[in-house]
Amino acid sequence: MSKKIGILTAGGDTPGLNAAMRGLGKSARDFNMELIGFYQGFRGLMENKTLKLDQKTLSGILTLGGTILGTSRDKPQKMLIDGKEQDMTEIMVEHYHKNKLDALVCLGGGGTQKNAYHLYQQGLNIITLPKTIDNDIVGTDISFGYDTALGIATEAIDRLHSTAHSHHRIIVVEIMGHRAGWLALGAGVAGGADVILIPEIPYDVRLVASAIKKRSKEGKHFSIVAVAEGALSKEDHLVYDGLEKLVEDAGKGEPKRQAKQALLNFELGLRGHTLRLATQLEELTGLESRLTILGHLQRGGTPSAQDRILATRLGTACPHYIEEKQFGNMVAIRGEDTCLVPLKDVVGIKKAVPLDHPLVQSARRVGTCLGDDDTI
Ligand code: F6P
Repeated sequence: MSKKIGILTAGGDTPGLNAAMRGLGKSARDFNMELIGFYQGFRGLMENKTLKLDQKTLSGILTLGGTILGTSRDKPQKMLIDGKEQDMTEIMVEHYHKNKLDALVCLGGGGTQKNAYHLYQQGLNIITLPKTIDNDIVGTDISFGYDTALGIATEAIDRLHSTAHSHHRIIVVEIMGHRAGWLALGAGVAGGADVILIPEIPYDVRLVASAIKKRSKEGKHFSIVAVAEGALSKEDHLVYDGLEKLVEDAGKGEPKRQAKQALLNFELGLRGHTLRLATQLEELTGLESRLTILGHLQRGGTPSAQDRILATRLGTACPHYIEEKQFGNMVAIRGEDTCLVPLKDVVGIKKAVPLDHPLVQSARRVGTCLGDDDTI
């Protein structure tokens, strides 16, 4: 008898999602599995909005960016309905059974892994694949989407060099990565940024300005500052840490809500912090400065060759694991192989850049300022 597998893509879209679904769907034929997709992430499961993923639907999508299923950041337990958050877990479980699914594959980043684990705890046969341009999912060497975004951000830095050089300007370039600096660090090193600022290393703006002034004295009258969207100055980091602790210690109910709101308000206030940084650097160095925010350009368009390969490897590994009933796991990349990582070991943990990571050391060795006064 054939098996019926559900599939959904959730969280921010990422190049490679279609390639992964194609890999899964095409290789599922050997296991006599048929596939249905749910539209717009977990919302599609709640609304039971499906698309039959037959060979025709899966054909020609390898090189397509985005996801043919659509995506959303909706969470089963906090689904926004008529402006109100509601727990819609039960109805999702009901739709899983109504569709007579043997398994549900969820493709997503950290948030999706958590939501998928929640559904697994409700008794659903869940398997996940790791995707995010931030590359911050633990347990896997790499997640698909990262390589494409890395290429785009690197090319942007390359292009910014000639204009910064021509005008003798500082160009601050904001790169995605809310809690982890993999993308800014990777693109910064690949593009030869003079300064790289990441969330893991709180920065001192005066040290950044000194590094830029030193370059000027050496006759290099321009600088590229690659900054992760989640990078924090030392001062902001202190406040942020304090607020996080407040949330942790707040207990339950109203105090917790208030503490969370305070943290959220602070985060909202940090929007535009890269513009503040560009302005501060202009004041401190006397050099004209400009800001470029790469934003969603980093997530759009066709996946790189590496991401197509990675997504295909993960997608084609999946039916075999489903056949073995390896539920409650994420399919991960470890060296040349795929392996399984229990979802309980994935959720709630961010893979941050270790301070002694070889790439951090390489950046320092080529003279890149990381906004702190550390030596190797
Ligand atoms: O998680 C991927 C990511 O691109 C982050 O780098 C970024 O902070 C976030 O998504 C942006 O999300 P959205 O597209 O929902 O604004």
